[in-house]
Amino acid sequence: MGSVGVGHRDAGRRIVDLFAGAGGWDEGLRELGYSALGIDSDRWACATARAAGHERIEADVAALDPKAFAPIWGLIASPPCQAYSNAGKGLGKLDKPHVFACAHELAAGHDSRAEHLAACRDSRSLLTVEPLRWALALRPRWIAFEQVPPVLELWSLFAGLLAAHGYEASAGVLSAERFGVPQTRKRAFLIASLDGPVALPEPTHRSYNPRRPDQVREDEADLFPWVSMADGLGWGRDGVTWTNNQTGNGRRPRGLARPMSCPARTIDTASGSWTVEPGSAKEGEADA
Ligand SMILES: C[S@@+](CC[C@H](N)C(=O)[O-])C[C@H]1O[C@@H](n2cnc3c(N)ncnc32)[C@H](O)[C@@H]1O
Repeated sequence: MGSVGVGHRDAGRRIVDLFAGAGGWDEGLRELGYSALGIDSDRWACATARAAGHERIEADVAALDPKAFAPIWGLIASPPCQAYSNAGKGLGKLDKPHVFACAHELAAGHDSRAEHLAACRDSRSLLTVEPLRWALALRPRWIAFEQVPPVLELWSLFAGLLAAHGYEASAGVLSAERFGVPQTRKRAFLIASLDGPVALPEPTHRSYNPRRPDQVREDEADLFPWVSMADGLGWGRDGVTWTNNQTGNGRRPRGLARPMSCPARTIDTASGSWTVEPGSAKEGEADA
């Protein structure tokens, strides 16, 4: 592949978003006045992103030569995380040693992906090393990677490897409700820069304690209160959400309650969706 035009009007501010999906990161970038060229292998995720005005290349990130995208200013990535997930019988977890060994070898200048891929139980496991491969090949001025909390282990390894390549890096878990998002969603982040020390942002809002939603921690008294679903959506505070991961028999959804007056639960494999119903129930109450 030759050189690829990357999606920001200012050529010095080009950003690539790996595994870009429907554009969660890109919506945030847009609020800051930036845009990225997103790469994703899923046709429908690309179509959704394009419909929202985000640029997409439909391709396998692992099959591309990053150098074709040079130069770039920023690199974003949220890779799939089979090596850290219970999904698919958890086979990806057995591949973790290959992911870590491959990361070390990439940082030492040896692309050993093919050898490790041949030994992996789940062919998707090695995708988590792609953000590091692209970072080392392109040397963007800044980097932002995100995944589920267990991936912090890998981000911490990447932080050390990137430090040996001139980056200042920081990794940690942030909780969405502590930044004013009406949802309790924890994610592991790695940020890195070639231009000086970096630090993950300090929370602006209080943490949500499901056991004591009304309690204010002494060390959080000066922060804003967390934002409820009702306030985030502009809906009434009466009403309750029920996780409905136990449905499938055509009956009323069953699961755990969370009132609209609280931040939303994360949609994940344990709670694939939830419904909103009138009435009230306490946080965590099980449907009868
Ligand atoms: C965790 S989601 C990314 C979410 C996205 N970054 C956002 O901000 O909304 C992972 C994405 O990786 C994509 N994906 C999986 N394997 C891929 C591959 N080999 N190459 C490119 N994209 C891939 C999936 O289609 C999915 O959209």
